[in-house]
Amino acid sequence: MDKLVIKGGIRLKGEVEISGAKNAALPAIAASLLASGKSRLKGVPDLVDVKTMGRLLENLGAGFQYVDSSVEIDTAKIRRFEAPYELVKTMRASVLVLGPLVARFGRARVSLPGGCAIGARPINLHLMGLEKMGAKVRLDKGYVVATAKRLKGAHIYFDIPSVTGTENLMMAASLAKGTTIIDNAAREPEVVNLADILVSMGAKIKGAGESIIVIEGVDELRPFDQYVIPDRIECGTFMAASAITGGDVILKNCRPEHLDAVVLKLKETGVAFEPLSAGIRVIGPDRLEANDLKTMPYPGFPTDMQAQFMALMSVARGTSVIQETIFENRFMHVAELRRMGADISVQAATATVKGVRGLVGADVMATDLRASASLVIAALAAKGKTTIHRLYHLDRGYEKMEEKLRRLGAIVERVR
Ligand code: EPU
Repeated sequence: MDKLVIKGGIRLKGEVEISGAKNAALPAIAASLLASGKSRLKGVPDLVDVKTMGRLLENLGAGFQYVDSSVEIDTAKIRRFEAPYELVKTMRASVLVLGPLVARFGRARVSLPGGCAIGARPINLHLMGLEKMGAKVRLDKGYVVATAKRLKGAHIYFDIPSVTGTENLMMAASLAKGTTIIDNAAREPEVVNLADILVSMGAKIKGAGESIIVIEGVDELRPFDQYVIPDRIECGTFMAASAITGGDVILKNCRPEHLDAVVLKLKETGVAFEPLSAGIRVIGPDRLEANDLKTMPYPGFPTDMQAQFMALMSVARGTSVIQETIFENRFMHVAELRRMGADISVQAATATVKGVRGLVGADVMATDLRASASLVIAALAAKGKTTIHRLYHLDRGYEKMEEKLRRLGAIVERVR
């Protein structure tokens, strides 16, 4: 199993190109199932999760080719309608094929995702929405089985604005008969990217990016040729890397408007930003100032940046209180940051971080994707050598992380 060895203490400097967004690419790939023929998605990051999505589509009978950051998917010969346990258990986003399969083929059998490192993560909202649209949904030996002659429009309200829930139902509603309203929908940029792609396929969607999305179903959709948006979480992660090392880094191919909450928070901790025509320059201070944080659905501060922010606060001047409101178990990085000398205590969903003068390199274990990123950030600032074990989590969501860091001057090595 690969490990990442980082020698900390170097100010990062230079330019880095942000990749396409994993969480925009995965739903877009699933959306190709809504039409028959060849779709192309450009700007797709080369990640384990994208490959897993590819295997899932191939398993359904689709052609899937990844060449030079583009994915070509041929959905003319879909002959199976199942997302097997082996794939869903490694990637929960597999559940995104549920809506498209039921909408286009009238049936789907998708393994119910189990809990994962960050929480229980149920899919009851996805299922409730499909049922409201007329699907029959039952559970069979750990699988969700959904069938429908043709989905029909419905008015759906989400208790919680679920990202993949909104995406699944937006895709399903695009081929339903009649109008669907998703109330309290997720407003993340990835939802908007998917809506744009669906519209290019012939779907009629209004309000993506707002809390109420209205979808007028059509009888047929056509394949697409579209781009994914830049990865705002990768971008935020490199902002944090520059911030903690007192660095001076230019992030290219990034959309700062997708990161308003992160940029504003980082400014409060002393990080300086300079908008550039091709991206944004991020200048870290000599020492960060402590700041409190609460994660919220978009446009609030993303839960996917909470662990990275905590790494910053672990060396800031003062004490910060960090509240995680999206996932019930997203503090797995705390124990690892402590191994590096951080002073953090956790009570329920609140972490109190007393900033220390410096961290010290240690052996640490990555527990999930964003926890891994926070350990990388901490390691960049730590004195001496940090070895991050279980690197496969990082590889699921960050394209060529160590190469990009090395280009900024970091001393990083992957040990196989
Ligand atoms: N929830 C329910 N019922 C549902 C669906 C969600 O109770 O049917 C709850 C969840 O348990 C959670 C909250 O609603 O407490 C929000 O979850 P959401 O459904 O929005 O999360 P998701 O769609 O499963 C996506 C991203 C995550 C990201 C979250 C929150 C993808 C593929 N995944 O997950 O990304 O953390 O939104 O922004 O888009 C990551 O990239 O590291 C990652 C975990």
